[in-house]
Amino acid sequence: MSPNRGPIADWMNCLYACGMDNTHLPRPIRFIRRGQAVSITNVPPSRTLLEVLREDLNLCGTKEGCGEGDCGACTVVLAERSGDGLAYRAINSCIKLAHSIDGMALWTVEDLSPLGGPLHPCQQAMVDCHGSQCGFCTPGFVMSLFGMYQNRVRKGQTISRQLALADLSGNLCRCTGYRPILEAAQRMGGFSPVEVDERAVVAQLAALERGQDGVDVGKDLPSAKARVQSAASAYLAPTSLSDLLRARAAHPQAQVVAGCTDVGLWVTKQHRQFAQVLDVTRAAELRRVEHYPHHIAIGAAVSLTDAFAALQAERPQLASFAHRFAGLPVRNAGTLGGNLANGSPIGDAMPLLIALGASVVLMRWAPDGIAHRELALEDYYQGYRKTVLAPDELLVWIKVPRPQRGEVLRAYKVSKRFEDDISAVCLCIHLHIVRGRVAHASIGAGGVAATPVRAWKTQAALLGKRWTAKTVEQACAVLHAEFAPISDMRASASYRSAVLGGLLQRFWLESQGHCAINLESLGAEDLA
Ligand code: FES
Ligand code: FES
Repeated sequence: MSPNRGPIADWMNCLYACGMDNTHLPRPIRFIRRGQAVSITNVPPSRTLLEVLREDLNLCGTKEGCGEGDCGACTVVLAERSGDGLAYRAINSCIKLAHSIDGMALWTVEDLSPLGGPLHPCQQAMVDCHGSQCGFCTPGFVMSLFGMYQNRVRKGQTISRQLALADLSGNLCRCTGYRPILEAAQRMGGFSPVEVDERAVVAQLAALERGQDGVDVGKDLPSAKARVQSAASAYLAPTSLSDLLRARAAHPQAQVVAGCTDVGLWVTKQHRQFAQVLDVTRAAELRRVEHYPHHIAIGAAVSLTDAFAALQAERPQLASFAHRFAGLPVRNAGTLGGNLANGSPIGDAMPLLIALGASVVLMRWAPDGIAHRELALEDYYQGYRKTVLAPDELLVWIKVPRPQRGEVLRAYKVSKRFEDDISAVCLCIHLHIVRGRVAHASIGAGGVAATPVRAWKTQAALLGKRWTAKTVEQACAVLHAEFAPISDMRASASYRSAVLGGLLQRFWLESQGHCAINLESLGAEDLA
């Protein structure tokens, strides 16, 4: 490869353009694959895992379809230590930055069965059920099945059609139809079990963490902690909150990333390069959900899967909304903090959290320690993808009030596809009805303005009123007029305005027990 061309040269040009020099060379990426420690050097910070797999390691079983986290053709499985075992996550490698898997175990479709040996149960089930036709989507489906196998089948769970639909929600097949693939998911538990030697992988991950991979590379490399904290690194991933805030203060120009489910698209679709990246997902404090008497605090680096599990544990009616948020690989990689910090007007978490009265905690490193401020989520947004976040600040916690007796909450998402799609409109309504009157009204909306918004006028139209059809009719008119949405490829402005009122009307009907007609109750499996 010519020294003036290729990913590392492109990145160095980007470095020089930012006034930096090659003392910022990225650290090696080290991970466990097939029982071996793998070390890759000279990977630019913006290079995706899919590029590394296909172009650097020649592992072309993993396919590229959309390059934006929509189709699942690029699905691989990652594992991290969880107690004495491993926690597995299927993710989209096309929008995952390669450096973000440092210190993890990785499985690609090449890793499931030995060359010429018996197929893994998830592969054999696909063969037996005729789940592959052109085969382009197949490696991604197989890897999602492998994630399901490790997370569910090996733990004794029977795979129902509903579970299969949930775990395959991020994989699209354009030709065979889904029935045989869903059957394969349900059938793979019937084969002789195939075990991952988790104790061995856990020991290897621990060795990587100590900087002693003990296999074939780099005994002289600094420990993982030292590597991720090095101030000179092009890919910073501090492991504590204080180090993270210090790094932010020292490198305000660095591109902050979390799950990269949005920033990844800037790389794949806009061909952007980052001179330096600050990854917030390794800071231990940001990976926790903490429960307090009046609220739960969700760390900004908690994955969407885990964040919605925490929200759903308190409000089970959010199950369908959580499922429709995105396909499973996106929810596994994306974080709640990333979704909020990014400030997209069509992100789905914000309308829900605005309706729930959530606040965000912002922190920065100050001469006398950590400084913080807390503000209502809706006050975090200033304009289209503009927030109040200062260059040296980070969003670190999301505080969500716990349910109160008598609350009525619904979260509605309107999109062209049922699963794995972006909202045209999202409306979340949170009311307290006390003795027939609206004692509290909190409504969040997405897709209707330049930012996620609170429907202040509609709330005022409801507050203190009797909860009747007449009140709802008047509030629907207010909601219809409250925003001036735009027309785009997802929906026209008039559709968006009209559908808002329709959703409030639906909320009223559901509050009166009329819940029979909606997509969720039809059962997506009946439509498959
Ligand atoms: Fe489509 Fe990655 S290539 S999700
Ligand atoms: Fe062709 Fe799925 S088998 S896209």
